[in-house]
Amino acid sequence: MDVVNLDAAFQSIEEHWEPKLAGELNGQAVKLAVVSGEFVWHHHEDADELFYVHRGELTIEFEDRPDAVLEPGEFSIVPRGVEHRPVASAETEIMLFEPQGTVNTGNRESDRTRRNVERIAVDDEEAEWVSDDRG
Ligand code: NI
Repeated sequence: MDVVNLDAAFQSIEEHWEPKLAGELNGQAVKLAVVSGEFVWHHHEDADELFYVHRGELTIEFEDRPDAVLEPGEFSIVPRGVEHRPVASAETEIMLFEPQGTVNTGNRESDRTRRNVERIAVDDEEAEWVSDDRG
């Protein structure tokens, strides 16, 4: 079985706001991104979107409800159709869980829009080492 080491996976990401595909299951995608600064306001017509913070701090701003401030180990789900803007005051590592094909900027076309998300390399050596150690 593939084991994804989140520390190693995030370390391999060099650019901000460039989501990478870390896994797929049941029509859903697990994506990783390193973010810093403000993203663009948008919503997803047909997709709920989960944000999980691995390192740093992410604020999800909303037009019609209080902000969600996520610390490492916390997640929040933005319902479909809800206008939101992710903001990170310092470099932050986030995991996203959403339907395959969900576009990062939703209804908003922007220079941040990414339609094709590259698959991230899984750290196989480390995974095998962990398995051997436990087995
Ligand atoms: Ni979104």
